[in-house]
Amino acid sequence: MQNVLIDTSPITQDALSYLRDKNTDIVKFRHFADKISQQLLVKALKESDYVATQIETPIGPTTTNFLHGNFIFVTILRAGLSMMPAALQLIPTMPVGFLGLKRDEQTAIAYEYYNNLPKITQDSIVIVADPMLATGGSMIKTLEKISSFSPKEMRIVTVICAPEGIEKVHAQFSNIQIITAAVDETLNDKKYIIPGLGDFGDRYFGTEG
Ligand code: PRP
Ligand code: URA
Repeated sequence: MQNVLIDTSPITQDALSYLRDKNTDIVKFRHFADKISQQLLVKALKESDYVATQIETPIGPTTTNFLHGNFIFVTILRAGLSMMPAALQLIPTMPVGFLGLKRDEQTAIAYEYYNNLPKITQDSIVIVADPMLATGGSMIKTLEKISSFSPKEMRIVTVICAPEGIEKVHAQFSNIQIITAAVDETLNDKKYIIPGLGDFGDRYFGTEG
């Protein structure tokens, strides 16, 4: 699948297994959500630039490589919040933007209830994080907003994708890379991912529908 990078590493797949298991309690769910986010975000940053810089170690001068790029982290509330701690641990200087989107329970179409994006410019590399890409409706709404600022690049980090969501995103934004732990089978009649992991937001925040 073009522009879809599946992280098949054992640590990622192990974390995904705990997240999928309906018997995983909230403590473990939060733990493995954090762990898988770290893994996926590292993958998402793999193709980034370095800048060679002269520094002094306690022993002497050396030239070393620092990560280079104007990264911005945009996360889709609520479930995307779970990916923020890992993102800020990796790049603590990143500005963070939020888009509050909630799928209507009947139609599965997301409506916006909050929007607070940092300044996005033509040299921004925007990492868009949301653990679930189901119909793709929430992601498309987010990408449309971000792309109106013409950033240098947008990358999507998600835990599980449905093929329907990938297709929808790539129909409109063919160049965007999606970094994920799994591409599942399809969606059920309520637009939940099969087999998926259920409702990520409810499991992570301890709510019920
Ligand atoms: C979930 C999930 C995504 C969205 C994906 O959020 O976190 O944002 O659904 O579905 P889509 O691809 O069909 O748009 P939800 O609307 O349940 O809100 P929540 O994060 O507050 O639980
Ligand atoms: N949102 C979720 O949390 N899970 C799904 O399967 C689909 C959307």
